[in-house]
Amino acid sequence: MSARRLAALEVRNVSKIYESAGSRVTALAAGSLTLSPGTVTGIVGPSGSGKTTLLMIAGLLETPTAGEVLFDGRVISRPGSRLNDLRAFRRAHLGFVFQKANLIPFLTAADNVAIAMQLNGVGRQKAHARAGRLLAALGMGDRGANYPSQLSGGEQQRVSIARALANDPTVILADEPTAALDGGRAEMVMKVFRHLADSRQVAICVVTHDVRWIGYFDSKLELEDGRALPVRAT
Ligand SMILES: Nc1ncnc2c1ncn2[C@@H]1O[C@H](COP(=O)(O)OP(=O)(O)OP(=O)(O)O)[C@@H](O)[C@H]1O
Ligand SMILES: [Mg+2]
Repeated sequence: MSARRLAALEVRNVSKIYESAGSRVTALAAGSLTLSPGTVTGIVGPSGSGKTTLLMIAGLLETPTAGEVLFDGRVISRPGSRLNDLRAFRRAHLGFVFQKANLIPFLTAADNVAIAMQLNGVGRQKAHARAGRLLAALGMGDRGANYPSQLSGGEQQRVSIARALANDPTVILADEPTAALDGGRAEMVMKVFRHLADSRQVAICVVTHDVRWIGYFDSKLELEDGRALPVRAT
């Protein structure tokens, strides 16, 4: 793997307003977040509070209506930014675990993980070897030849986590990565994240409803109706 640059991803005063057919929804109002190397940040809050919106903006998959996203101190996304131009940056630096697994249906589990590396210039053989190791680390070592439709929701989610780790990202953004997993497997995923933060200095952000994982977080952002709640002692 090529050398990684360690840098913080910073979301500054970001708002997102959705307007359609006369309705106006403020999904997020002036949310701020700094994801530093070697830390795990939790985002919690009720359904509809803006967690996914914040993650999509931090992950350069949506532009904000106001505010900006910085990497290494430089603005990389702001209102009107062309996100297509950031595709190579996203591939090199960001690992995304979506709320729904989002796997490519006509590729096997192993191919879903390997293709993320091949698109980043890694050779097929090397990509497949690493895909096998990542799937094994997530307890999916014997399911690489299966297609997504042959896997349970939780298994698909673990393939998508392996895919997010594939390019040794600087930052991992995970939206409810443990929601479809039972207690033991969910804990395994949180341990993988904690280990990546501690050993590889990855900056990790996890959206979760599950209070069990609070012990894995270095810091926590609580959202309600698109607004950050004041930090409370836990
Ligand atoms: N494309 C869209 N158009 C209009 N409104 C949207 C859109 N996407 C999200 N919203 C609204 O923005 C608000 C925040 O949504 P978001 O998906 O960020 O919530 P969430 O905290 O992730 O919820 P959940 O826990 O259910 O996943 C909600 O009221 C939602 O209905
Ligand atoms: Mg969500």
